[in-house]
Amino acid sequence: MKIFELNKTNNCENLIKETPTKNDYDILISENTLFTKNNIPVGLYIKIEHPLINEIRKAAIETKYVKTYRTNKALPTQSSVFGSLPRVALRNDYCRFSSQTKSETLNTQRLFTFMPYLTKIYENHLPLQFNHDIKVINENVNTDYLLKENQPFATASINVNHAIKYHKDTGNFKGNLSNVLILKNNIIGGELVFPEYRFALSQDDSYLSIFDGQNEIHGCMPIMKIGNNHYRASIVYYTLENMKHCYPYKMEVERLQKLSTIRANKRAENVNPKYKTK
Ligand SMILES: [Fe+2]
Repeated sequence: MKIFELNKTNNCENLIKETPTKNDYDILISENTLFTKNNIPVGLYIKIEHPLINEIRKAAIETKYVKTYRTNKALPTQSSVFGSLPRVALRNDYCRFSSQTKSETLNTQRLFTFMPYLTKIYENHLPLQFNHDIKVINENVNTDYLLKENQPFATASINVNHAIKYHKDTGNFKGNLSNVLILKNNIIGGELVFPEYRFALSQDDSYLSIFDGQNEIHGCMPIMKIGNNHYRASIVYYTLENMKHCYPYKMEVERLQKLSTIRANKRAENVNPKYKTK
């Protein structure tokens, strides 16, 4: 395993929302590498050699992607989300499993059966960080929302053809690392650039990267197709910080029922003051 000691050479906050270019890095990393800071392991880039990866590939090819629009990106992107989601006021005001968790049970099983293998790699190479992440989840997320217990991830997303501009990750538990697996065919580009350190990860097929996406600016080089049957999927395992607000599932359903009654009463009051409940 190659060791790469990280040294921040420049500040690139001004690059956020910009598209990465080849001028932003000097070193392209395409072999298994452990990243260190002051000789302490902080990140990993490693090829996954496990037959189960082909199950994830099937999931990435077979899932029905949903178009999503994100405010910081111009183009719609396509994603499938599996596992737990927190409350979203007005739209889905209760903690739940994503609709695809139920409608695509085979793909859910594929993603979460593979997860312990992935997290074993995480634990083996970055034990202190892994123990930190798992402690945060165990202390903050009710086990009703964990498809696999004693694991640091409640949710997995498959994204296709995302070439995300420079950004920092948001929404996950603070201090927990980002885990991204790349599966691709007949695609060039898509290197993951860390401009403040002047290196990029090659993001080859079957490579997993684990990094501090909340603190380090990163972005994806443009992607180009070079043949038939082309695809580029990034599979991301994570836990949203808002999951800490979720009650045990039964209580969560009761909360929703109470809220629905209150809202229905309010609507009735607005229509006819005689329906005032109190
Ligand atoms: Fe990211």
